[in-house]
Amino acid sequence: MSVKRESPLRVAVLASGRGSNLQAIIDAVESRVLQAEIVAVISNRKEAVALERARKNNVPDLFVDPKPFAGRPDSREAYDRALLALLEQRHVELVLLAGYMRIVTAVLVNAYSNRMMNIHPSLLPSFPGLDVQKKAIEWGCKLAGCTVHFVTEGVDEGPIILQAAVPILDSDTPEKLAARILDQEHKIFPRAVQLFAEGRLKVDGRRVLIADGKPLGQAIISAS
Ligand code: GRF
Repeated sequence: MSVKRESPLRVAVLASGRGSNLQAIIDAVESRVLQAEIVAVISNRKEAVALERARKNNVPDLFVDPKPFAGRPDSREAYDRALLALLEQRHVELVLLAGYMRIVTAVLVNAYSNRMMNIHPSLLPSFPGLDVQKKAIEWGCKLAGCTVHFVTEGVDEGPIILQAAVPILDSDTPEKLAARILDQEHKIFPRAVQLFAEGRLKVDGRRVLIADGKPLGQAIISAS
């Protein structure tokens, strides 16, 4: 059963880079496809284009410098405690990792258990980590794709919410394939957030069940 929300879902986006997925979320909110409010965009990199995109769209942007935390044994946890304080101050209900190039610790994972999503450019559990489009081509895969999943302590390991498959062409380069996968990322990430906003995601062990889902609702195959 889906839930009718009285107020938009309060979302924070953590991003380190160009922020095209952030932009897709902003656009979905703007066009009212997504009943959410982005209450903060937070980056560990001052020059992240994602922060510029936030400013341009009147979304509060925050740079949290990792340097003051470096050198201490619990530097990653201490950094995440600082982030958690910001998230809690803003009453964030859902955290999105959108090209966030830091491994999140138990501090955040536990506080936002089943309330933090990541977008990854492969069909997990194949190819966690980096350079995954290149790896999929080199492996000889015929299908690549992207995955939205809940975040657990294991990198790229959490329960899968949505995936989209993209055919790999003989003529593909990692860049060409990455661009086609990115188009799909921009579709499934806002869709997953809206499903969350509607209260339709149920985590059952490793599986995420989608209430009132249409057949094949979670598998999206894009034409090449
Ligand atoms: C995307 O490919 C995403 O799947 C991965 O990092 C990239 C971020 O791109 N986690 P952008 O910053 O959203 O444009």
